[in-house]
Amino acid sequence: MNIIVAEYIYTPDGFVSGLGVAFGDKIEDIDSIGLLSAKYPDANIIYAKPHSILYPGFINTHVHLEFSANKTTLAYGDFMPWLDSVIDNRDDLMGACDNSVMSSECENMMKSGITSFGAISSFGNELEVCEKTPQRVVLFNELIGSNASYADILYGDFLNRVDASMKCDSHSRITPAIAIHSPYSVHPILLQKAVNLAKEHSLPLSAHLLESSAEREWLECGEGEFKEFFQKYFNTSVPVTNIDEFIHAFDTYPTHFVHCVQANEKELAHIKEKNHTIAHCPRSNRYLGCGRLAIEDIDIPFSIATDGLSSNDSLNIFDELRAGLMLHQQVPIAELADKFMESITAIGADILRLNCGTIEVGKEADFAIVTLPQMPQRKEELSLWTILHTKEVSEVYIGGEKYV
Ligand code: BEZ
Ligand code: FE2
Repeated sequence: MNIIVAEYIYTPDGFVSGLGVAFGDKIEDIDSIGLLSAKYPDANIIYAKPHSILYPGFINTHVHLEFSANKTTLAYGDFMPWLDSVIDNRDDLMGACDNSVMSSECENMMKSGITSFGAISSFGNELEVCEKTPQRVVLFNELIGSNASYADILYGDFLNRVDASMKCDSHSRITPAIAIHSPYSVHPILLQKAVNLAKEHSLPLSAHLLESSAEREWLECGEGEFKEFFQKYFNTSVPVTNIDEFIHAFDTYPTHFVHCVQANEKELAHIKEKNHTIAHCPRSNRYLGCGRLAIEDIDIPFSIATDGLSSNDSLNIFDELRAGLMLHQQVPIAELADKFMESITAIGADILRLNCGTIEVGKEADFAIVTLPQMPQRKEELSLWTILHTKEVSEVYIGGEKYV
């Protein structure tokens, strides 16, 4: 047994002081330090540095490791030139993205306190890295393909990847899951099969949705920049689905929708009604010129996530949170900081259906310790100072083992 002691602990009831946490691979007890050391006299006591806050390990619900080799290759600024650049450079970027590149990005996430992440996997290239990293990985095997002629081949390949992720042994901490690329790129027949598969095996399900205004225009009117794109790369000029048909395909299975920046009030109300959730990626949305998700108007559980290095400059979750604070000037800053810390802990864990994300007895002993330069004067600013002053956390535990 270990007992960890920090000046503050981030609990579901807020930041508390004067308590310690006893843990093996799971959290066993939370109590005053005196009582814990009396109850567990042989325990190893770990004292965090002064001015430290013990958080549950952080959760990044949406990342694409396979694009980790991108630095300056892809075109940022507007969505369609970016998508063109992805198609044109995909093979080179994938080729340059070997295991060492992806492992190093898992480490970068870990240094920022990420102990669990949802990895969108287009080809299965990151499976070995995800098996080896100590972090919990929800591996979202992605289905893509709008052309019905290739549907069987694409679905077969997708099933093989799902199967491989189901066979990972439990030490790898991998949870198999399913991702639908987007409304514009997945044929409705394939979509239905994949949703049924997720339901049948109770797998977490995710889909990019209404990221750009070009996507909206294409799905609503069959016009705009996507028309040229589909003519150029796929020799077609009609969308395979529309917004309503796509969203309704998920009605019976709560899904993690990514972006939703261009979703209207009615669509957001539907997403809420069906108990779906949203991954909000502030930097990705800004870098691809997609707009701002009006988080102050939505009453839907959302996570803050980095997306991949194909539309970002780092996978550091604190870089993302700071960008989020700058993007959403509509919300009082300390309140927003509290919401963000919840979004990468309790809400992230609910979304990925993991038994972590809160400091409570019975949860996995996944921790991130943040050490502030001074103790804050006001308790209501603890989340804010955490976000503003943290580039890297000072300690990380996963399943009770120390990794940073
Ligand atoms: C497709 O497979 O249909 C597709 C892939 C990427 C972007 C758009 C469409
Ligand atoms: Fe994404």
